[in-house]
Amino acid sequence: SAHYRIAAPNTKVGLPEVLLGILPGAGGTQRLPRLCGVNMALDMMLTGKHVPAKEALSSGIIDKIAENNNTIDNGIEYAKKLLKDGFKPRPTSQIQNKISDTKETSELILKFKDTASKKYKNLFSPHAIIRSVEEGLKLDFPDAISNERKLFEECIESPQRQGLIHSFFAERANTKIPELKEGKPIELNKIGIIGGGTMGTGISMAAMNAGFNVIMIEQNDEAIQKAKAKINSTYDRSVKLNRITTEQKNKTMDMFSATTNFSDLKDRDLIIEAVFENMDLKKDIFKQLDGICKDGAILASNTSALDVNEIAAETSRPEDVIGLHFFSPANVMKLLEIVRGDKTSKSVVASSLAIAKKIQKIAAVVGVCPGFVGNRILAQRQREANKLILEGALPWDIDDALFDFGFPMGPFAMSDLAGLDIGWNKETSNGETLRDVLCEAGRLGQKSGKGFYTYDENRNKSPDPEVEEIIKKFGEERQAQMRDISKEEILQRCLYPMINEGFKILEEGMAIRASDIDIVWTNGYGWPVYEGGPMFYGNLVGYDKVLEWLQNAEKELGPEFKPSAYLEKVVAEKINIL
Ligand code: NAI
Repeated sequence: SAHYRIAAPNTKVGLPEVLLGILPGAGGTQRLPRLCGVNMALDMMLTGKHVPAKEALSSGIIDKIAENNNTIDNGIEYAKKLLKDGFKPRPTSQIQNKISDTKETSELILKFKDTASKKYKNLFSPHAIIRSVEEGLKLDFPDAISNERKLFEECIESPQRQGLIHSFFAERANTKIPELKEGKPIELNKIGIIGGGTMGTGISMAAMNAGFNVIMIEQNDEAIQKAKAKINSTYDRSVKLNRITTEQKNKTMDMFSATTNFSDLKDRDLIIEAVFENMDLKKDIFKQLDGICKDGAILASNTSALDVNEIAAETSRPEDVIGLHFFSPANVMKLLEIVRGDKTSKSVVASSLAIAKKIQKIAAVVGVCPGFVGNRILAQRQREANKLILEGALPWDIDDALFDFGFPMGPFAMSDLAGLDIGWNKETSNGETLRDVLCEAGRLGQKSGKGFYTYDENRNKSPDPEVEEIIKKFGEERQAQMRDISKEEILQRCLYPMINEGFKILEEGMAIRASDIDIVWTNGYGWPVYEGGPMFYGNLVGYDKVLEWLQNAEKELGPEFKPSAYLEKVVAEKINIL
């Protein structure tokens, strides 16, 4: 609201309210467009991103960058200079040259609406922000401010705000771990990555983007070339999309080298193994690393399911071994599960947390158990989704229920995307599971144009009567009792066992706090941020109601619904775990 604005050199400016489910309600939606134009203002307000002082200056958000951080002195000096030079009051409300109610502006706003309807389909505040800007163009400033206030209040009343605020704080609580009290993070600069497949290339890029020097180890020259080409083409695409300059790309690529020679890892501070998911292979690699790596180097595995303790036992230094479970694509996905082994030292956990921050990942420290936190909870949803199909729900009924809840896609669309044949073997397939039957019928997922769904040439999916037939026959052979299943029941069946598993994870100490489980699910598995994550959502429903539902389900459907003892305790003693 100030008439002139000066910023310290390292200032970043932004309006992050959208991240909390509200809009910049103190005139932000009206003043920012007047300063930097509708395009940049909407972009900033819809993403919540901050822009550095230089960009703020060139776009008109500020008028001057001070030479140092001496805020008060610089401010007073600037005010005095403005007065001396005859500058007059300049209320932002009266700046009109960057906003006008023209055809171009309407088209621009339409474009934002279009993107927002896809990107923020279930969110409330992004749409309110666009409306406030759009409607404000047609109103006097005071009326535009009243209109903004009205929309702000609607945001405040929206239940999404609570979930978003929970997520906001959950992503800041995750770094408070007991290890930090005693374990000092060690300085890590040089990183080695073993394996240059999907994960190895992604992790390399995540590290290089943060300025780390990376050496990659692959099996042979062909694999090296393939990994290099993948990394190269990813950066080329970023150049094409103007996300980075060619110069930046070249500078980043200079930080990368690849070799087949394991002994090149001897000077590395952190080594992340990302070879095939095979215990013997991983054990062999860690044994080699033990002989090669310098003292104090951190030896990490990106395994998604194998026992990190068993891998660590292959070395003479299990205290230096840890799981760093990235998510695909690792250069994009925010989540990192830091899997603390039984013998992992405090300093290695603390250092892993520090490195996660540097490579801009949101980390959750978890314990060694099958599937760690994320996949362990996912297994619950997957099991129920598969069972529901044999009780009468069709794959698209289940996917639609979860999509409408806010997931980007349901489990069956997800399987089609990944490929139904992952882990499927044509030779040994015997039609035992629905997946077997679909694969045997050549329905391998999106890549073959059909899986649970049928896909058109643009990969748009549609339900397929043939799949309905396959399911019907499969069910009849097993004397499955089909019935109508409501959307509400689908959600309960899929989501409540996940909440229960979260309680078991807490009970066993495999996660430090409930909100860590939530950040795993909001950042790695598409749980809608405004629903806070499974543990937050469980509280929203009422843990007592979830418990009661599980008790009934245990009686009617089987022991897999047995409530966690910790959930029972939380309900009985009304413990607040969030
Ligand atoms: P991938 O099959 O794409 O890549 C594995 C790479 O390891 C291949 O390029 C292979 O040439 C290389 N490799 C095999 N043996 C090697 C050796 N002795 N020395 C050097 N390189 C060797 O596999 P992906 O998907 O990258 O998975 C790697 C690891 O990451 C697995 O443990 C997997 O469970 C885990 N993971 C995978 C995720 C995914 O979505 N793909 C997600 C999270 C973890």
